[in-house]
Amino acid sequence: MKYIEIENLSVSYAGKHMKKALRGLNLTVDKGHIYGFLGPNGAGKTTAIKTMIGLIPEYEGKVLIFGKTTTDLSSKYKIGFMPEIANYYWYLTPKELLNMYAQIFNIDRKQAAAKIEELLDLVDLKDVANSLMKTFSKGMMQKVSFAQALINDPELLILDEPTSGLDPISRIKMRDVIKGLQQKGKTILFSSHELSEVETICDEVAIIKEGVLLRSGKLAPLLAEKGSSSTLERYFLDIIGG
Ligand SMILES: Nc1ncnc2c1ncn2[C@@H]1O[C@H](COP(=O)(O)OP(=O)(O)OP(=O)(O)O)[C@@H](O)[C@H]1O
Ligand SMILES: [Mg+2]
Repeated sequence: MKYIEIENLSVSYAGKHMKKALRGLNLTVDKGHIYGFLGPNGAGKTTAIKTMIGLIPEYEGKVLIFGKTTTDLSSKYKIGFMPEIANYYWYLTPKELLNMYAQIFNIDRKQAAAKIEELLDLVDLKDVANSLMKTFSKGMMQKVSFAQALINDPELLILDEPTSGLDPISRIKMRDVIKGLQQKGKTILFSSHELSEVETICDEVAIIKEGVLLRSGKLAPLLAEKGSSSTLERYFLDIIGG
């Protein structure tokens, strides 16, 4: 079943110099996959992600999530979203922030309290659960953001550079959590610049550049195009450089 279906998506940013950030993007993500979304800085990954979750209402083309348009509220209950920059209310604690999100998702109080404890433990923030986020490091904010994306036990996770700023152990842990979620039947799309990480956990990838899709599909056959020992790093350099 198609969880994300994008056809011929074009997005322009208004302004003095009208900027076309996406130009005819096609992308399909089926249920149960871990999908890596790759491309150089400014390629259009965040723009595409924002469009998927309904933050960019004006676009050309087709964008369906769970087969519904991006304004469909019932879909939003089933999505977990981690933004590129974790810029939450600095004068809240992680516990307060997660409580706020639990309320947005109409999770009952008792269930929310248990879920929040579980998530704070998962991202190793138990010790600072009641500290103001203005005192947090970049990596700590990133962990709050990941916990926030999981509060509603989402069917589909859309993560914009989730591991950026994480230390190696936290990075491995997040990778294992994402794999574990796939084993539970969840679907994950995430953008990343960490090609070895993407190669380790993704089964499908898309590579975009200047708003245009260059390649997409299952990882193994794509790499095989360049010979049996090709890595994603080598493949990426070939595609982007050429
Ligand atoms: N709010 C905005 N207003 C105008 N132009 C924008 C805006 N946001 C992004 N852009 C432009 O759209 C293009 C795509 O940006 P986007 O943030 O989607 O790239 P990205 O692939 O996520 O890059 P990165 O890897 O650096 O996060 C860039 O050329 C950028 O300058
Ligand atoms: Mg981005």
